[in-house]
Amino acid sequence: MDLDTIMELRHSVRHYTSLKPSDRDIEKLLTAAGRAPSAGDLKARKVFVIRPGSRMREEMNRVLHQDWIHEAPFLLLFCADRKAIEPYGERGKELYSVQDATISAAFAMLKAVDLGLATCWIGAFDEGAVSTAAGLPSYLRPVAILTVGYEG
Ligand SMILES: Cc1cc2nc3c(=O)[nH]c(=O)nc-3n(C[C@H](O)[C@H](O)[C@H](O)COP(=O)(O)O)c2cc1C
Repeated sequence: MDLDTIMELRHSVRHYTSLKPSDRDIEKLLTAAGRAPSAGDLKARKVFVIRPGSRMREEMNRVLHQDWIHEAPFLLLFCADRKAIEPYGERGKELYSVQDATISAAFAMLKAVDLGLATCWIGAFDEGAVSTAAGLPSYLRPVAILTVGYEG
């Protein structure tokens, strides 16, 4: 699909079928996320795949209070890595790592359209609760969650 079409087709999806995206497609999303630029090429971001039926998914469902999210088979959790960005000091920690995570999520989002997958960006969550649910170390800050599935 050409880029203009991808950008035109992308929209937030809040209803999903029960069909699960393949591991191969999830892998492609991660590859796309990994191709995003990053400050100093430090890749100060971490992406977690939260699988349907997993313990972590149950924990996430408990702390994410937008009910429709429960329909989405996969969640991708994008985190700013405040340890990897240390060479850039405070600005790196507060800004670059967040930008690194954000742009990689955007790349994954666009690739999802290319694969016929649907996404929605979730920004409204309790950071502390999500960190606990995902078992994140303190240097990882959850920045964005993408729901991933097929539009219902
Ligand atoms: C930073 C950010 C946070 C967002 N948080 C949420 C959210 O918590 N829940 C939700 O349903 N949509 C969320 N969205 C999706 C927006 O509501 C959506 O992108 C916007 O309404 C435009 O619609 P579109 O994506 O279909 O073009 C978020 C988008 C961004 C970029």
